[in-house]
Amino acid sequence: MKLCVSLDLPTAKENLALVEQIKDFDVWLKVGLRSYIRDGKEFLEDLKAINPNFKIFLDLKLYDIPNTMADAAEEISKFGLVDMFNVHASAGIEAMNTVMQRIKDIANKPLVIAVTALTSFDNEAFKAVYNEDIKTKATKLAIDTCNATVDGVVCSAYESLDIKNNTNPNFITLCPGIRPFGEDAGDQKRVADIPFAIENKVDFIVVGRPIYKSENPKEVVEKILKNMEIA
Ligand code: C5P
Repeated sequence: MKLCVSLDLPTAKENLALVEQIKDFDVWLKVGLRSYIRDGKEFLEDLKAINPNFKIFLDLKLYDIPNTMADAAEEISKFGLVDMFNVHASAGIEAMNTVMQRIKDIANKPLVIAVTALTSFDNEAFKAVYNEDIKTKATKLAIDTCNATVDGVVCSAYESLDIKNNTNPNFITLCPGIRPFGEDAGDQKRVADIPFAIENKVDFIVVGRPIYKSENPKEVVEKILKNMEIA
């Protein structure tokens, strides 16, 4: 299991200062829409300049017609800076196939994962859009994602094992909503700790606020990595 640290601070300067503090650890860094729109590719270069071994997950959640998604995926893959990016599974199998087909021959192509259900939906709001319960639809979307040869999904730790059982053990699950040491859940509805994530075969845990809001982010990262080894 790998730790992916969310860079959700309001400015590039603050995000880079956080990364400086954790530069000696074997972690992934998650760059989201806000940072990327504001700071662009240069920010990704700045991260790699701090430590070239950092792996970057570009969390832009692509959703468009197949050709437009593939165009964006191609550009991201050609940067040579991004190790993983994501799309929306509900863009459809054709869109996901087109993305995977387009990037297949690019050297060092990133891993691709797909969002099944946004965690901001409760079941009722989800049903109003998709006409199905979240859990049923999330598993169906994960199966579509796997059939489209996409590498994995973004899901909650509570769905990870079920998704692995319905796809295959190598199908990646990346799970936000992790609270390693019982920290405040904030707006996350269903939070899990590290032993639970390991038990449910989660491949990547995404942790934001428990790290960047702490007095000593370096110490928290160190503690999480230790806990991942011994849990
Ligand atoms: O601060 P916290 O640990 O809750 O951060 C979780 C990160 O994962 C945030 O960057 C959030 O936007 C992201 N995320 C999420 N749920 C998803 C997808 C992404 O919480 N389904």
